[in-house]
Amino acid sequence: MHLLFAFFGFILLAVSSANPVPADDEDAHLTVPELIAKYGYPVEEHHVTTEDGYILTLHRIPHGKNSNKSLGKIAYLQHGLLSSSADWIITGTTHGLGYILADEGYDVWMGNARGNKLSRNHTSLNPDKDSEFWKFSWHQIGAIDVPTMIDYILELTNQTNLYHIGHSQGTTSYYVMTSMRPEYNDKIKAHFSLAPIGYMNHMTSPLMHIMAFWSGPLDLLFNLIGVNEFLPSNEFMALVGNVLCGDDDITQILCTNALFAVCGFSASEMNATILPVLTGHTPAGASVMQVMHYAQEINSGGFRQYDFGLDNWNHYHSLTPPPYDLSKITAPIYLFYSHNDWLSAEQDVIKLCKGLGSACAGKFLVSDNGFNHLDYMFGIHAPEYVYDRVISLMARH
Ligand SMILES: *[C@@H]1O[C@H](CO)[C@@H](O)[C@H](O)[C@H]1NC(C)=O
Ligand SMILES: *[C@@H]1O[C@H](CO)[C@@H](O)[C@H](O)[C@H]1NC(C)=O
Ligand SMILES: *[C@@H]1O[C@H](CO)[C@@H](O)[C@H](O)[C@H]1NC(C)=O
Ligand SMILES: *[C@@H]1O[C@H](CO)[C@@H](O)[C@H](O)[C@H]1NC(C)=O
Repeated sequence: MHLLFAFFGFILLAVSSANPVPADDEDAHLTVPELIAKYGYPVEEHHVTTEDGYILTLHRIPHGKNSNKSLGKIAYLQHGLLSSSADWIITGTTHGLGYILADEGYDVWMGNARGNKLSRNHTSLNPDKDSEFWKFSWHQIGAIDVPTMIDYILELTNQTNLYHIGHSQGTTSYYVMTSMRPEYNDKIKAHFSLAPIGYMNHMTSPLMHIMAFWSGPLDLLFNLIGVNEFLPSNEFMALVGNVLCGDDDITQILCTNALFAVCGFSASEMNATILPVLTGHTPAGASVMQVMHYAQEINSGGFRQYDFGLDNWNHYHSLTPPPYDLSKITAPIYLFYSHNDWLSAEQDVIKLCKGLGSACAGKFLVSDNGFNHLDYMFGIHAPEYVYDRVISLMARH
């Protein structure tokens, strides 16, 4: 444990910044649709109910500023762990992929997975009272939520297929969907994985490591991170804060944020102007099972369904959870990865691409070695390093 923290501290010593952080601003208090409208883009909010009763929120930017109607090319964007549809617009009109794609002529739809603060609702369960509400991992997000939202969009727009772009858990849920429900491959023109997460045994996030190899009593761990909803305690954040917090303003703000504590950050890619709105919208919430399912992946080295331990037999009729069958995934996939990513390690991405076989249409290493897991969403250079290439590849399909 001490070694891990030493390692953690070492990484953070490399982080520094001179940017001043502005005081809290108006944008930090606006909802996703309010933000989009404020910046002059058309916006719609839609609600979809899954077969198991979760009420999900979808946000849509039907077209860009320079057109009056959607051209029928749909880009579906799915956020990562502890995030929401806000991810795609938070960095503003010049950097937010949601705006950039709308201006490129796409009809942009941004999903929200069950349990985040925009999809924290159910037809019969109360998320504040019923622990049953929180009994899901990213398996259900991939097997139920994403296909439900895709079907809703295709029906409403009278289209047959769409482009899918995922970040982090948004890639995991994509692999779950297309392997568990292979008929959905036909509804995808191409998928773009930003910071792909299938296999995880080479990841270097110290916090994920602690959860994966926790050897103490489980109830102690759950006291620290939450029982149903992932809500790290003050003690847990203090543990992180001691090593994550530097003296400057940016690290001070981010070191108390659970999302950045899990994923890390590089201050040189952080635009101080957007920090208030960024920390106003993240972390957006998740279930403890989502986090534990990732911890299991780190531990097992596999890409498998949730491990219920002694209860596996009841769920799967086997002693170990079944692996996701990557050979069922057929729609073309492009993988974007980087060397400073704490969660998506190069060896794991290469293994994933091999497992996907001919569906792995290309993999691209971000040229900047400092680029981190969250920089795909919030980094100053995300358009230049990642989005430009995504957009030119989309045009080929
Ligand atoms: C959008 O529609 C308005 C009113 O119909 C028209 O004046 C405007 O030129 C249109 N804009 C574009 C970019 O087509
Ligand atoms: C920082 O964000 C603001 C607001 O979105 C934007 O105007 C500015 O260009 C960004 N700065 C950089 C260096 O990307
Ligand atoms: C939850 O969904 C119900 C509709 O089933 C709606 O009446 C209620 O306002 C929603 N609650 C929240 C917090 O969105
Ligand atoms: C939906 O699209 C099909 C062709 O793809 C077309 O025949 C049909 O008229 C469309 N329906 C609506 C309601 O636009």
